[in-house]
Amino acid sequence: MLKGKCVVIGVTGSIAAYKIANLASALVKLHADVNVIMTKNATNFINPITFETLTGNKCLVDTFDRNFQFQVEHVSLAKRADIFLVAPASANVIGKMANGIADDMLTTTILAAKCPKLISPAMNTNMYENPIVQDNIKKLSDYGFEIINPASGYLACGDTGAGKMPEPETLLSYILQTIAFQKDMSGKRVLITAGPTQEKIDPVRYITNHSTGKMGYELAIHCARRGAKVTLVAGPTALEDPLFVETVHVISAAEMADAVKSRFEEEDIVIMPAAVADYRPINPADEKIKKDQSDANGNVIALERTEDILMSLGKIKRKDQFLCGFSMETENMLENSRTKLSKKNADMIVANNLRTKGAGFGTDTNVVTLITADACRELELMSKADVAAAIMDEILASLTQSEYKLRLS
Ligand code: CTP
Repeated sequence: MLKGKCVVIGVTGSIAAYKIANLASALVKLHADVNVIMTKNATNFINPITFETLTGNKCLVDTFDRNFQFQVEHVSLAKRADIFLVAPASANVIGKMANGIADDMLTTTILAAKCPKLISPAMNTNMYENPIVQDNIKKLSDYGFEIINPASGYLACGDTGAGKMPEPETLLSYILQTIAFQKDMSGKRVLITAGPTQEKIDPVRYITNHSTGKMGYELAIHCARRGAKVTLVAGPTALEDPLFVETVHVISAAEMADAVKSRFEEEDIVIMPAAVADYRPINPADEKIKKDQSDANGNVIALERTEDILMSLGKIKRKDQFLCGFSMETENMLENSRTKLSKKNADMIVANNLRTKGAGFGTDTNVVTLITADACRELELMSKADVAAAIMDEILASLTQSEYKLRLS
């Protein structure tokens, strides 16, 4: 995902410095060229050799080190950088950067860098809340640096409050959001559904299915990274709300229908991987149903159909909107999915067969077939993140074509 991208990480003297080893390692796995610059204080918390081993690049500490790979190291690295993250950023280094002080390798290089710059402040709460530090952070923000707000929690000094560096996964999300993709979806609004729904039987029981929400969440993250404004309407899942996406939590099919239909008009693209329950109990009980009550009823739960959200949207869809449904089958996948495409008036159905190895619920991979009115393209086994990218490439190509046709007509 980051092949050919040069990521520079500035590490300063804060206890959180050791966590950057995980970030450096994750970036290398995504094929980034990772270069770490440390302040002298940071070397008290983690040894530069750790970063050199993980990244395969020299870890720079001292401006006057003679053992350089380049003639003028700080300028050369600043020019090559696609992104510059300072994490953890101490109050001292934030103060220097905000005031143009360049007295070591890190501050010198960042002053020369023109790429996007991310700053992750990490310090004691009182230091973080000090108006001098706040002013410096605001100044950096006004100069175009992006500030990653610190998390709140128990700090190494024993205090509890704001000032914790977010986990490496969060820092990685910021980097990916900034440089992983061209922003070819900026200006587009996308709504994505995800996960299962739960249909109440009584206060302790419900009807649901095995959906984990992974495919929908990957689509939401991917669209946000391509610059779209994304709303994720999610049924109950164990997944964390993705950054850079507006997540709307719902429980039942009826709530999902309300959340989706009320937003539909303003969306350009709607994608529906959610496994919406097709039936719900007609009369959910207000109190827990006891066994003798259930026995007396013949152990039958009376069900009614839920609204088919995709079909409702298909009826009101405008020509400039793109509607993509999903179809999970165990037999006759192509035939059943083509029927859904026409019956629900969708522009595309992403079909998969639960019986195919690597496809289905809870896996990190999927094997899907993209079905439109005039084409059918089977994709190979790939990660759900790659499936998300392939689906969006297909949708964007199709939208460009129909926009062109609309202009001609
Ligand atoms: N869907 C929906 N509302 C429902 C049921 C399904 O919007 N009440 C959407 C799903 O989100 C998916 C598509 O319809 O995008 C197909 O769902 P699927 O469960 O595969 O098919 P169904 O239409 O429910 O048909 P069947 O259960 O008979 O296969």
